[in-house]
Amino acid sequence: MPKKSIPRIEYLRVQNYRALRDLELKKITPLTVFLGPNGSGKSTIFDVFAFLSECFTDGLRKAWEKRGRFKELRTRDTEGNIVFELKYRETKKSPLITYHLAIAERTKGPYVAEEWLEWRRKSRGKPFRFLDFKEGEGKVITGEMPDEQDKRIDEKLESAEFLAVSTLGQFAKHPRVSALRKFITGWHLSYLTADNTRSIPEAGAQERLSPTGDNLPNVVQYLKEQHSGRLEKILDILSRRVPR
Ligand SMILES: Nc1ncnc2c1ncn2[C@@H]1O[C@H](COP(=O)(O)OP(=O)(O)OP(=O)(O)O)[C@@H](O)[C@H]1O
Ligand SMILES: [Mg+2]
Repeated sequence: MPKKSIPRIEYLRVQNYRALRDLELKKITPLTVFLGPNGSGKSTIFDVFAFLSECFTDGLRKAWEKRGRFKELRTRDTEGNIVFELKYRETKKSPLITYHLAIAERTKGPYVAEEWLEWRRKSRGKPFRFLDFKEGEGKVITGEMPDEQDKRIDEKLESAEFLAVSTLGQFAKHPRVSALRKFITGWHLSYLTADNTRSIPEAGAQERLSPTGDNLPNVVQYLKEQHSGRLEKILDILSRRVPR
């Protein structure tokens, strides 16, 4: 059976999100470690992924409400939209896709100011948007491999509060959009803190880290039993890159 491939993020840009006024991460690798002083925004990067994932599962309004609306959510003393941009590949050999999402707020609540998906079909071709929305209205190109020349279909969402990718990604006729929706809703986030790893776990190997990370010893046991070479490599890289 062919190995199941999981999409991979290679680039992330975040603007005006809490402590992250303008962050650009290029060449993100499968194992990425952030080091920095207290309050520099390490946990906030993690929350960007939680926020996006919640926007897709619970909706933008809930994710926004939970974090204290723009008053708390937007970087202090800024006026602009909150912007996320990620570049990913569905598989190692797939073309790079850019997902851009800009969130704004008005008296009624939060809304999607801008949302688009862009790719270039051939390595020499020019990039074009196959999904392009502003405030709940926009255009999308359907099909397995959207092409610049293909017909664009006008779509209107019920509310500007809805994400086009989350909504249109439920239709089989938009496989590239569905793949992104599936990817983001499938993110598994574990907020591991040192305290949680100190508890005495029940015995036994476990494949997946829990949301609190309290089963870390079990996961390490699993890796040791099933992927010992990989584990050694991880520990080796960690000890070289992380001070002490
Ligand atoms: N809306 C906002 N505008 C500007 N700064 C903010 C905003 N919301 C939170 N912050 C700041 O973000 C910082 C917290 O960032 P974060 O928790 O990501 O840091 P960290 O690198 O994880 O730190 P630690 O090493 O202590 O865990 C705090 O200093 C807080 O004041
Ligand atoms: Mg932190």
